[in-house]
Amino acid sequence: MSLTSPNDKPALRRELKRRRRALSAEQQRQAALALCQRLKQLPEIRRAKRISLYLPVNSEIDPTPLIPWLRKRRVAIYLPVLRPFSANSLWFVAYDANTPMIHNRFGIAEPCPRFAVQRRHRLPAWALDTLIVPLVGFDRQANRMGMGGGFYDRSLSFMRHPGPAPALIGVAHACQQVASLPVEPWDIPLTAVASDTGVVRPIKTG
Ligand SMILES: Nc1ncnc2c1ncn2[C@@H]1O[C@H](COP(=O)(O)OP(=O)(O)O)[C@@H](O)[C@H]1O
Ligand SMILES: [Mg+2]
Repeated sequence: MSLTSPNDKPALRRELKRRRRALSAEQQRQAALALCQRLKQLPEIRRAKRISLYLPVNSEIDPTPLIPWLRKRRVAIYLPVLRPFSANSLWFVAYDANTPMIHNRFGIAEPCPRFAVQRRHRLPAWALDTLIVPLVGFDRQANRMGMGGGFYDRSLSFMRHPGPAPALIGVAHACQQVASLPVEPWDIPLTAVASDTGVVRPIKTG
């Protein structure tokens, strides 16, 4: 398939979103199950006591079949929430069957602000062991292209400095992989990308 110039990020985002939109409901269901089988094997998931995941929109691959398995292991589950009064960054709010939810300005379900602002319900990203991160595109070095808002890059910018750092596991449909993606100075590298067909880890050079 011919793709536009690798530096034309908006066009590449459109193409990759088009690919995953073309998946049927049954393909989505199978992909979600296959993804979760792979996630359960990853050391970064198996050792995590506090993990964040997301509720899928726009044909994103669905990581939520992992939830019953995580609950059985007594892992605390968090969802990303748009931070009030903090431009385009995220905090992570405890999520269980009783969490009151609303739809945010992107139409994504998230814990409601009155719940989320309470300190005991939320964590900054550095306090999580592992984040399961959605993406629009990835490449064989596990580089990530997101929705274009830079939300995760901004929320994880502390990882440029020494200190505690969570593992970052990107998740996607196999059809979201391209040979190589442009990397921007502010992009925070992922630990790995898991898809329905495999796991990609960056090959360290130098
Ligand atoms: N740490 C940061 N601080 C301020 N702005 C940031 C930061 N990280 C990313 N951005 C901004 O977010 C925008 C989108 O980032 P980009 O990496 O293209 O999106 P995505 O990661 O969602 O694919 C960029 O224009 C960039 O300036
Ligand atoms: Mg980025």
